[in-house]
Amino acid sequence: MLLPALYNLALDGRVPERFAIIGFARTKWTEEQFRQQAYESVKEFSRRPVEDGLWEKFARRLYYVYGDYSKTDSHQKLASVLERVEHEHDTDGNHLYYLALPPSASEDIINQMGRTGQVVPHSDHEEEGGWSRIIVEKPFGDDLETAVQINRTLHSAFREEDVYRIDHYLGKETVQNILVFRFANGIFEPVWNRRYVDHVQISVAESIGVGPRGGYYEQAGALRDMVQNHLMQLLSLVAMEPPIAFNGAAVRDEKVKVLHALRPLRGDAVRYHTARGQYATGFVNGKEALGYRQEKGSADDSQAETFVAVKLYVDNWRWADVPFYIRTGKRLARRSSEIAIQFKQAPLLLFRDALDPAGLEPNVLTLRIQPDEGIALKFQTKVPGSPLRVQPVNMDFPYSDSFRLQTPSAYETLILDAIRGDTTLFARADEIEAAWSIVDEIIAGWREMPPPRFPNYEAGSWGPPEADAMIEADGRKWREP
Ligand code: BG6
Repeated sequence: MLLPALYNLALDGRVPERFAIIGFARTKWTEEQFRQQAYESVKEFSRRPVEDGLWEKFARRLYYVYGDYSKTDSHQKLASVLERVEHEHDTDGNHLYYLALPPSASEDIINQMGRTGQVVPHSDHEEEGGWSRIIVEKPFGDDLETAVQINRTLHSAFREEDVYRIDHYLGKETVQNILVFRFANGIFEPVWNRRYVDHVQISVAESIGVGPRGGYYEQAGALRDMVQNHLMQLLSLVAMEPPIAFNGAAVRDEKVKVLHALRPLRGDAVRYHTARGQYATGFVNGKEALGYRQEKGSADDSQAETFVAVKLYVDNWRWADVPFYIRTGKRLARRSSEIAIQFKQAPLLLFRDALDPAGLEPNVLTLRIQPDEGIALKFQTKVPGSPLRVQPVNMDFPYSDSFRLQTPSAYETLILDAIRGDTTLFARADEIEAAWSIVDEIIAGWREMPPPRFPNYEAGSWGPPEADAMIEADGRKWREP
């Protein structure tokens, strides 16, 4: 993801001329081997084909250092290469670090960075150069306690404004568009509240399985892997109040308020407001799929969840008593992520006799995040002719019809923002911690409950019956995306 994103930015001339990349890892590669590795990954994953001339120019900016993250001499070696490269490329002492590591390794590295003088103390004259910023990949901790610890370590070397916690969902065009849709239009915001909205459904469905990442999923599960970050981010963008400006401080202030307003999930709430699942064998897109317990690295009697559904309430004046149903799962029938705002029924059934016996379908506004990106509004309309009949139709905006531009990948957007110093699309320390508080409550609640009877949904289905039971208890249904 990373090198192809950087290559595409270079192709567009969006990274500065004075720019270099240093890889640092445990693998004993020479610089030449690293460049070759980079070439192969860019060739495979780049959005656009590799152009030889440009590749040569890009490859001249690639350097590599191998070493042990926890050893000071490895970091000293890195610091001296950094100094040399800085000199060769005249980079003004600006450093952007990118940690793509398990949470347990980041602490050592950040401490070492501080110790070996790699982190340039912040200059008040940023335009004169000399900043150090850090991008940190998820998972950001395993629970609230570890996340707080990582934040503490980060803050010992970096200012919060220089920490960029990446959640690639925030780099997706359709996710950024949630803010534009809500706040650049005058007609949606007035109905975006408990008076008009019956409930909200946020679904992130994947058809892929865990694949070779069974070892990681045994520790993480879908709750940590998807809910703590991607789904909480989507929820905060949908539920937040209008920010006073479009910048990192104002947008994130409003997002974190949503997370703080989430009704705690204590005691019986976890039993009745959550559902979890694990996939069994089945068929996805006509192909036979393994069950989770047969995936590489997962345990034969695994209790790890690959599906989660949660009902949440945002306890504030805008949303009081409006349920937010969120769900995510692997090996579901189709890949589809969407946010559906379901409005309340019309107050008066004037056309009762003209309706389908199933009744009036409520208005639904659907923001399709991926694939088939777009926005649709369902409303009732009269079927031509007589007698009078009423039927729901969809008004649809597919992105692909209006914009023919090739969209940059989420990583391109986010890396470029970090280079420019724009934190708006990154998670702040307090957001991460607030999201963990909710997730920790669910984990604690599950621990108190009898072990789930896994596997409980077939690969290629829409998830376990427990998730249907959860929403049906409220007289509602999951939408089929
Ligand atoms: C990652 C998760 O953060 O997001 C994966 O670790 C998941 O398990 C992926 O498959 C989904 O991202 P996308 O962009 O394909 O929706």
